[in-house]
Amino acid sequence: MEINLARLEEYKLNFSRTDEVHVVLGIDCLREIVSKISLLRLAPRTAIITNTTVSEHCLEPLMEALSAKGIASEPVIIPDGEEYKTFDTAQKIISFLAEKNFTKDTFIIALGGGVICDLAGFTASIYKRGLPLVLIPTSLLAMVDGAIGGKNAVNMPEAKNMIGTFYQPKLTAINVSYLQTLPLSQISYGTAETIKHALIADPAYFKFIDNNAESIKQKDLSTLQRLVRRSINIKKSFVTKDEFDVSTRKHLNLGHTFAHAMEAAGNYLRLHHGEAVGIGMIMALKASKHLELLKEDYSLQLKSLLIRMGLPILPPDEFTSQSLLEIIKADKKNDTSSYTLILPVEIGSTIIKSLSEEELIQVLDAALDI
Ligand SMILES: NC(=O)c1ccc[n+]([C@@H]2O[C@H](COP(=O)([O-])OP(=O)(O)OC[C@H]3O[C@@H](n4cnc5c(N)ncnc54)[C@H](O)[C@@H]3O)[C@@H](O)[C@H]2O)c1
Repeated sequence: MEINLARLEEYKLNFSRTDEVHVVLGIDCLREIVSKISLLRLAPRTAIITNTTVSEHCLEPLMEALSAKGIASEPVIIPDGEEYKTFDTAQKIISFLAEKNFTKDTFIIALGGGVICDLAGFTASIYKRGLPLVLIPTSLLAMVDGAIGGKNAVNMPEAKNMIGTFYQPKLTAINVSYLQTLPLSQISYGTAETIKHALIADPAYFKFIDNNAESIKQKDLSTLQRLVRRSINIKKSFVTKDEFDVSTRKHLNLGHTFAHAMEAAGNYLRLHHGEAVGIGMIMALKASKHLELLKEDYSLQLKSLLIRMGLPILPPDEFTSQSLLEIIKADKKNDTSSYTLILPVEIGSTIIKSLSEEELIQVLDAALDI
């Protein structure tokens, strides 16, 4: 009997060098998602990579729904935390897969936030030179960002996201209802990325987020679905033009050069990534103003929205331009002679700007209000 998948919205991402990627989205749609997985005609055996927190909420119903479709699943439950997104954990998962005889004709499901999607994506891409991958993101950040675009990574003691691959899933399946159990702080961190999407591509989307900040915080599912839908489509438009992050995709880094530097300067304990992105976008506005590239100064609107979402707007006092510069210099995205920043022009528009080291120091001073 064919299941009615009408409750699922479907988007297709076409890349020049890899197969078409399907993204499906809905509310309370686990059964439809599993039907969609079975329509991929993958082998009837999967390993579900998840963590201790997400497994409590989401694992059993998924395993039951898969089983009803004749797909056997083995859970791999990782402790919760960014500190487990490591090469060492990937190696342990690989040993488990080998021990349980997961062959080339099985597939991997990632069930979790961005940490699990990154870890499972990386592992799927290297085990036996690649197993089919299905991403089921359960945090807002993973739904709007981490599970779209085919990047993955694990952390090394030397740096965050140091090792990774580009590896597209067969399917990203989003059940917005999973957000009901997500802590409010995590909703705010995910919203920081949606605000970034609005600032690089869509003034109407900025207005939407601004007008609906309360509904987002109250986890109104239909508002969250609209949020996820618009962000997927914006991210899609950038990543499909530039799968391997050499040109257009860089716009998605708005605020991120400053954010990564602040996260590292605080040993990843001082600021959460979502908080750092919010502050980083304010710093990018100041930098753009300093370089006379800003057509519309929207700092007040942005600060007001970040505050309403419970996000900070000021960089911690202890960060200096020199300390941030040292970290930016070591950043993997820069070549030796110049530094690339994404700078706001007006709401919905950003530019890619190359700076010398001397210019970057001045920009950092301006961004930190020194
Ligand atoms: N590959 C990419 O393109 C990309 C993009 C952005 C971020 N990332 C990566 O994503 C990670 C951050 O992702 P994140 O913010 O989702 O963090 P996360 O995966 O740690 O999830 C945040 C917290 O929410 C919990 N959680 C997730 N879903 C839940 C649910 N439905 N109910 C209750 N709790 C739930 C998690 O267990 C965790 O404690 C970072 O490692 C970052 O590098 C990757």
